[in-house]
Amino acid sequence: MRSVAALLLLLLCASVATACSGDRDPNPNAKPLPPSSYVLPERIVQQIRDHQDDANRIIDYFTKGPGQGQTYTRLASLVDTVGPRPSGSASLERAIDMMLGNLKADRLDNVHGEPAWIPHWVRGAEYVQLLEPHDFTMNILSLGSSVGTGPQGITAEAIVVSSFEELTNRSAEAKGKIVVFNQPFVSYGETSVYRTQGASAAAKVGGVASLIRTIAPFSIYSPHTGVQFYTDGIPKIPTACITIEDAEMMARMHARGQRIVLKVYLEAQNLNDTLSRNTVAEVVGSTHPEQVVLVSGHLDSWDIAEAAMDDAGGAIISWQALSVVKALGLKPKRTMRALLWTSEEFGGVGSQQYYNSQANNTGNYSIVMESDLGTFTPTGLEFTGSPAATAIIQQIGQLLVNANATVVDCSLTFRHLLFCSLSGVPGASLHNDNDDYFYFHHSRGDTMTVEDPVALDLCAAVWAVYAYVIADLDDMLPR
Ligand SMILES: *[C@@H]1O[C@H](CO)[C@@H](O)[C@H](O)[C@H]1NC(C)=O
Ligand SMILES: *[C@@H]1O[C@H](CO)[C@@H](O)[C@H](O)[C@H]1NC(C)=O
Ligand SMILES: *[C@@H]1O[C@H](CO)[C@@H](O)[C@H](O)[C@H]1NC(C)=O
Ligand SMILES: *[C@@H]1O[C@H](CO)[C@@H](O)[C@H](O)[C@H]1NC(C)=O
Ligand SMILES: *[C@@H]1O[C@H](CO)[C@@H](O)[C@H](O)[C@H]1NC(C)=O
Ligand SMILES: [Zn+2]
Repeated sequence: MRSVAALLLLLLCASVATACSGDRDPNPNAKPLPPSSYVLPERIVQQIRDHQDDANRIIDYFTKGPGQGQTYTRLASLVDTVGPRPSGSASLERAIDMMLGNLKADRLDNVHGEPAWIPHWVRGAEYVQLLEPHDFTMNILSLGSSVGTGPQGITAEAIVVSSFEELTNRSAEAKGKIVVFNQPFVSYGETSVYRTQGASAAAKVGGVASLIRTIAPFSIYSPHTGVQFYTDGIPKIPTACITIEDAEMMARMHARGQRIVLKVYLEAQNLNDTLSRNTVAEVVGSTHPEQVVLVSGHLDSWDIAEAAMDDAGGAIISWQALSVVKALGLKPKRTMRALLWTSEEFGGVGSQQYYNSQANNTGNYSIVMESDLGTFTPTGLEFTGSPAATAIIQQIGQLLVNANATVVDCSLTFRHLLFCSLSGVPGASLHNDNDDYFYFHHSRGDTMTVEDPVALDLCAAVWAVYAYVIADLDDMLPR
């Protein structure tokens, strides 16, 4: 089955070589797409060129007009006031209420929340104590949806492995032990499976808890949390991430044949789901109000940081994209709709419910845009769509020559946006200088200090220009 599927995928990829498809990861090796071999009709090229003045007004608004510095100020005001916004928390609902107020204050259209049920997991106190060969308290973060250890904690010997394959080979040794994964970082897409599946893999061979090396390319002793998923039918064991430094230290001890004893204590609990909201605002289209250009980011975050980068930045630039269009009195032909997702971190829970409500209406979506890979200096758009749509996006990029944001990169598929994966709606993400994204991602280091006011001005401008021009073309993007 697998090889047939792989072959099919290969054939599909080969036949759409100039279209955008691939893996979702900020990929420093990703190359901008060469000029598309698809030749756009002159009529469409001209239509896009006719938007140069509007594009310049948007760029000027953010870089030297009333919007200058505003994206940073709005972002800081939200995250400093509300703080961490974990799924199920009162602070997430407070952030949603604050944003509904902000969107109304900008006189955007149809501002409202759409109900969505979301997970409610709480961390509580937690620690991992190395007992042998020396006594040391590690810096850890339990993983989202992990169960707790109970009040006694779990004290056991550790086994250290560097891959699932090694764990399978040595499964006889794992019974009754704490399984430590010391997998090397390859890419977020490839390596995060250790975080999402590690606990069940460990439990399957009799492990009593699992500790996962943080999924990051770089560390100054920082654990990075994230969601994990238990497999049905396998015991649920407590799981946390540890730092790269401690994972490597235990791997060295293990290789030397030293006995490692740990005490794991986690108070983590899964509570009942709570009712939350996806936050919606619009600029209603002047000619095709039923047709939609969707821009989005998520308002929820992990519980350990104010999370300016992941992903308040994406949510705020999506607000700004509508805000500037309203402020400049621009009247796009179709509706621009901002969606600020709830509970993205637990697996796109909010966006999935929104998609379900729109599944019979996806034919009215021209594009779905999501910024969730950083708001550093923007370079253009990551895109997934047909060759004809890619050529249009590249042409729109030419309106952003002065903002240095003309790159259209096709190394993107969407994890969350079912609009793209299930319904074939063209999709885009902000292309930005995000090589350092995973230094901060899901760690206590995700703060306003990571964000830069000048870069944020440009992000808002680039996000707004692409969204507005797509919304104002005569036709929807071709599938
Ligand atoms: C697992 O065992 C197989 C078969 O003995 C061997 O070929 C493979 O190298 C082992 N892998 C690891 C990671 O130990
Ligand atoms: C969680 O839901 C169950 C079943 O609906 C209910 O009996 C219980 O009281 C709820 N717990 C809390 C803390 O609300
Ligand atoms: C789409 O489905 C929703 C229910 O999920 C329904 O309320 C709506 O009327 C449907 N729209 C169309 C155009 O069928
Ligand atoms: C677009 O929306 C309109 C109005 O709700 C609906 O009648 C039409 O069927 C939708 N078109 C598609 C292609 O989904
Ligand atoms: C674009 O790049 C040029 C050359 O590096 C630089 O001078 C200019 O300031 C940049 N423009 C913006 C808006 O950052
Ligand atoms: Zn995110």
